Amino acid sequence: MSGSTVFISKTIPLRGLERLKENCQVKLREDETPIPLEEYKRSVVGMDALFIHPPAPINKEILDLAGPQLKVVGTMSVGLDHVDLEECRRRGVKVGYTPEVLTKAVAEMTVGLTLATARRYEEAMRSVHNGVWGTRWENALWMAGQQISDSVVGIVGLGRIGLAVARRLKAFEPSRILYCGNSPKQGGVDIGAEFVSFEELLSASDFVIATCAISEKTKGLFNESAFKQMKNNAVFINVTRGVLVDQEALFQALTTNQIAAAGLDVTTPEPLPTNHKLLSLPNCTVTPHLGSATSSTRNAMCDLTVDNILAGLRGQQLPSPAC
Ligand code: DGY
Repeated sequence: MSGSTVFISKTIPLRGLERLKENCQVKLREDETPIPLEEYKRSVVGMDALFIHPPAPINKEILDLAGPQLKVVGTMSVGLDHVDLEECRRRGVKVGYTPEVLTKAVAEMTVGLTLATARRYEEAMRSVHNGVWGTRWENALWMAGQQISDSVVGIVGLGRIGLAVARRLKAFEPSRILYCGNSPKQGGVDIGAEFVSFEELLSASDFVIATCAISEKTKGLFNESAFKQMKNNAVFINVTRGVLVDQEALFQALTTNQIAAAGLDVTTPEPLPTNHKLLSLPNCTVTPHLGSATSSTRNAMCDLTVDNILAGLRGQQLPSPAC
């Protein structure tokens, strides 16, 4: 095992890196940015293990390039939309991922983004910096936003993260919490949330918060038709992946008062070009995919990815297997 090779697709926390170095030969790409595809293709060749971050793909082409000795892939993410699990299963390549350890951090970020969007933090902070504050004091509705208390909160996908978000938002005393998904969940019953259809959730919610996993069924779920069904005062939040949303339809919805505001922690592409038209809108708050970005959570994700990789190289059951 000490001769096993591991490629790491971008810089990771030191603690995890040192554990890997103690056990294997590490080929680290010392860069914080997502790896360019051509460099990635060259780097995976001949490796026994891959430590990756989304959106670096694991598909037939990458698995072919890596070669038949590849034993394990550890993705430092809960999202698996970049990994062809079926193909990995077929080839006997184990895949580990990092659910659970990031749930609380992502839920906190989602609550923060919901408040920031509903209470117009970005616009408000800009008004302090550019001197607009004070020039509009006579208007009692200046910078007025929306509150969660007494409103209807709709969660799209009551998985681990959705439930953690719903639990936290319950403390703000919404009048109802709705959720939709494949089936009703015990967690929903426990917090008094109501299971409804996607359409019902869209038309009844003041806050529509997307926390669902990405699949062929959910890609593009938030399209023109979805935004048209939402209330004019609706605040839309997305913390999953950018592909959930038709961004042109979202732009239209935000500029024609079909919905009130959007908060996006994820976009297509990432990073969003600085001249992207969504960034020109005062009612669109965009953060740079920070859901799990706390030091303790990122360290925990890295540690779990290292555990997955070391177990895979030893031929053991992964502590957090995706397949
Ligand atoms: C995840 O863990 O999937 C986060 O979105 C980071 O990519």
